[in-house]
This record gives sequence, structure tokens and C-alpha cells, in this order.
Amino acid sequence: MSEYLSIVGQNRLFGEVGVAGAKNAALPLLISTLLTSQKCVLANVPDLEDINVTLRLLQSLGANVEFRNGRVSIENYNIETAEAAYGLVKSLRASFWILGPLLARVGKAQVTLPGGDAIGARPVDLHLQGLVKMGADVRMRNGVVCATAPGGLTPQEITFDYPSVGATHHIMMTAALVPGTTVIRGAAREPEVVALAEFLSAMGANVEGAGSSEVAIRGRSELGGQQCVVLGDRIEAATYLIAGAMTGGGVRVTGISGETMGATLDVLSMVGCEVKEGCDFVEVSSYGRLQPCEFSTAPFPGLATDVQPLLMAAMTMAEGRSVIEETVFENRFGHVGEYNRFGADIKIEGSRAIVKGVSKLHGASAIALDIRAAAGLVLMGLAAEGYSQIYDIHHLDRGYASLIEKFTQLGARIQRSPAFDNREVVLGC
Ligand code: UD1
Repeated sequence: MSEYLSIVGQNRLFGEVGVAGAKNAALPLLISTLLTSQKCVLANVPDLEDINVTLRLLQSLGANVEFRNGRVSIENYNIETAEAAYGLVKSLRASFWILGPLLARVGKAQVTLPGGDAIGARPVDLHLQGLVKMGADVRMRNGVVCATAPGGLTPQEITFDYPSVGATHHIMMTAALVPGTTVIRGAAREPEVVALAEFLSAMGANVEGAGSSEVAIRGRSELGGQQCVVLGDRIEAATYLIAGAMTGGGVRVTGISGETMGATLDVLSMVGCEVKEGCDFVEVSSYGRLQPCEFSTAPFPGLATDVQPLLMAAMTMAEGRSVIEETVFENRFGHVGEYNRFGADIKIEGSRAIVKGVSKLHGASAIALDIRAAAGLVLMGLAAEGYSQIYDIHHLDRGYASLIEKFTQLGARIQRSPAFDNREVVLGC
């Protein structure tokens, strides 16, 4: 049954919460276990829908999987099929990344073109160009990518004209099982890429330069099983910190290093928050109304596009006019109409959103469109006066573990209830 969130807003949030392991770090680590027949163990894996779908996908290919208390033990001893089931791929973009590892391991793979959040066209041309350059024969049949590597894959120099996170993960994983040195120029520099590089190196490949725009992967014909701990989720951390800032409170998140959150913390300082960092925590406090500001999203180390809907929520109540530019995805302002239901004053001009801060938001009913927009709506509800209802919260389950418990721990009045098709009535005015 579908559910909705009800929130009674305007409670100032204070206290400490621990962040889970990052979904976006765990996904490539899980998929890279396809590169070895030996057992791999990942700890601090968040219990999220996207993770569970990925585990089911690996199981459908033949993996033995155990997931208990944040610990995934996985053994891809036999790859029984190189065809990914449509139902498991369509909802999760990262599942497309199995294509290269399967090609490298068994010489063939069939994967449906990916789904994921509705935030733009999200092509996979860079992924495919890289694989083709390495020797893959790629054909499209009715939306299914059918790839073979009749002569095996070869190491190459590959240049991306955009630092795609997914394409960098995908080619790094594939290259790790191709003997010789593959170089990626124009690589993504996100912390999750560095985490994947460390794991691949531990498995026996030698990856150098991760975190810079040029990564060299010296692959091997066989890789071994490994263990690792998934790094903390910088976007989840940002969600709780911004919630504290928006409600005039102060929140400390643990299990995260400030280094991975750089530009987000810079913006929070710029708008008047006090930011403190330790080796395993970040704390943000706000006193009075936030100041308006101008910022653009960009690949790491720029401001993460995933944080944009969250910071936009905060700017709706700032003391003046903010300008937010989205440069990573072409269609990532879908939440604006929903935010305006709360009394926010946001207008879109091309790739920029002009946010005129208002002194008060009022409770509203709204529909979540993707993971981060859903979290943004929760922030709007927490800051608004009165009662709010957020629908389609299955998006939150894809990216936030124990969200209700964590917000409750910080003093929020928030709960989950079954939705009985009353949405039209509530939204119909
Ligand atoms: C990953 C993250 C997502 C985040 C995004 C950008 C995961 C599971 N998801 O998504 O949360 O919002 O990085 O930080 O890690 N592009 C192309 N061709 C390609 C690939 C991408 O043109 O072949 C474009 C996309 O359309 C987009 C931009 O590159 O405009 C960024 O996409 P990319 O970095 O690949 O994002 P994802 O890996 O999908």
C-alpha cells in the first residue's frame, strides 16, 4: 500500500544523527564484485530500495548474497546468465553499470537502457563510447543494449567530454579486469569514485589518480575477493544539516568527513550558518533568518546537483532573492511547483531558479518526484507553519534509511501513514 508523510512544522531541530553508508558509493562497489569469483564483504551498506534492487539483480545473474545488519556478503562464483531482467534495471540507473563488468568477465552482456529519477534525459553515450573503444561490439535491439567482446577487451586511452560519474565508475570497473593500462581523461572526481578506486586496487588492479581528472587503471586478468567499509552519505548528511539550518536549529551529523561535503558547507557558511567540522562529524547551526545567495551546481568539487533541491528549500525562507543555477541535469527543477504550494516564491528562467525569500511558509500537500525532491519537500514541511502531507514517498525509500526515526530524534513531528487514495481530495483545491 502506498504511504504518505504527515509533518507538523516549525519545530526547531537540534541534536545529533549518524549518517548511513552512501548509496552512491555502495552501488558501484556491489557491482564491481562481478569482477571476481571470490567472496567480497561490504560493511556500512544502507538498507535502501536501490541497494535491495541491485542485490536482486546480482542474484538473478547467479550471485550468492547475504545482507544482514548493514553487511553484505556476496559471491559471484558462477555467472549463470549475462542478461539483466528488465524489471530490475528499469527503475535503477546504476544497474546499467553491470554491462562492462559482465563483458570483461564473460565476454557478453544484455542490459535494458536504464531508468532512474526523472531529472533529465540521462544518456549513456559516454559509457558506450568507452566500451566500444575497448573493443566491445554494441548493438541496440528494442531498447536493449546487446554487447559482446569477440576478441576480448583491450586497454585504451579514453577521453570523456563531460566528467560523468556513472561512466567513470563503469569504465574503471571494466578496465580493472582488462590486462594493461587504461587511462580515463576527463574523469569524474567525486569521493565515490575514489572509494571505488580503492576497492578495485584492493582487489588486485592498480588504480592511480582517482580524485583527479585523469585516472589510470592497470587491470589484471583475475581479481580477488575483498572487504571494505562504505563511506558515509554526504547527501544524507546535507539533508539533516540543512533541516537544522532551515528551522533555526543546530544539527551534528556523524559518520561523515567535511572534506566530502566541501561546496555544500561553503554555501551554508555563505548564507550565515556556523559550520564546525571534525574528523568524523559536521555540525551546522543557524541563528535567525538565512541570507540569500547565488550558486551553481557543478561536478565535484563543485556543488553537488543532488543538494540543489535541498538548498533551494532553505533559500525559500532567506532574507532576500537567491539565484540557483542547475548545470548538471537539464530538467532538475521539477520540485519548484511543489515548493510553491507551501507559499514559496520561485520562478524558473531557463537553467536558473529565482527564489524570493518569504518570511513564512504554510503547510501544504505535495507530491515527491524523485529522491532529493522528496527530501526537499520534507524540509519544506518541517519549516512551514502547520500541517503538511507529502505523497509518493517511495522515492525517499530509495535514498534514505530510517528517515522518520532520525528526524524524530532531532525533534521533528513527522510520521508515516497509509494513503487511501485521498490525494485528489486533498490536492484538489
Ligand atoms: C550520479 C549519481 C547521481 C548524481 C549524479 C551527478 C549515482 C548512482 N548517481 O548519477 O545521484 O546526481 O551522478 O553528480 O551515483 N551524461 C551524458 N552522457 C553519459 C552520461 C552522462 O551526457 O553517457 C550527462 C548526464 O545527462 C548529466 C551529466 O552527464 O547531464 C551527469 O551525469 P552523471 O555524472 O553520469 O550522473 P549519474 O552517474 O547518472
